[in-house]
Amino acid sequence: MGIRRVALVAGLAGLAALLAQPPIRRAAKSMRTSSAPGSGAYELAAGWFLGGYYRDIASDCAAALAGVAEPSILEIGPGPGHLAERLLDLLPDAHWMGLDVDPAMLDAAECRLVRAGTRGRATLVEADVAQMPFPDASFDLVVSSLSAHHWPDAERGFGEIRRVLRPAGRALVYDLPTRWAHAETGYAGLAAADAVFGTHARTRAKGVGPLTIVWRADLRP
Ligand SMILES: C[S@@+](CC[C@H](N)C(=O)[O-])C[C@H]1O[C@@H](n2cnc3c(N)ncnc32)[C@H](O)[C@@H]1O
Repeated sequence: MGIRRVALVAGLAGLAALLAQPPIRRAAKSMRTSSAPGSGAYELAAGWFLGGYYRDIASDCAAALAGVAEPSILEIGPGPGHLAERLLDLLPDAHWMGLDVDPAMLDAAECRLVRAGTRGRATLVEADVAQMPFPDASFDLVVSSLSAHHWPDAERGFGEIRRVLRPAGRALVYDLPTRWAHAETGYAGLAAADAVFGTHARTRAKGVGPLTIVWRADLRP
């Protein structure tokens, strides 16, 4: 074997060994589920750039729950809990449940809610949206932000959302335009909601000039 081939094989073996390291594997997994190398990086970036966006979603949820006493809210993919913090602040009689596939995100959300003094009204569950460990008709509101394009089986996820909603309940799902979802993760995002909920209201939640960055889908069972 020539020296170049030996160097190439050694280089590839070194790269494979590097990619197999737990921190790198964890970062790669986190990129697939949250577009960030870890919960800390996401928490920082989202906190800097999306404060007003989370406040708007929290007000939107509060309006959707007007007249519902002690509402039961499920958030899918809460990440480090920026929206949860605002929701629990705005709705003092609500119970919030956060379901996420990433335990590091759930830990970050838990710390945030402990600091905010609202941990007692929150439950954190590690699970996939495509297989939720809740009985049918459990929630008045399901909310999700910037998560749906990360769901490998989004149609099944929206099916689960429909199953766990109470008959008068609503789901407010905020996500990237479908073609960006495809570009980022290869997954369907909000487009998968149509197959489960049929026609539903879709409005712009965030944009710059004529460009829509986040759509809001208002889904009813
Ligand atoms: C980009 S972050 C969004 C976090 C937060 N909702 C926000 O708006 O800042 C996506 C979140 O969805 C979670 N997620 C991704 N795929 C999921 C799945 N299949 N089921 C449940 N959660 C998922 C990720 O772990 C991550 O916390």
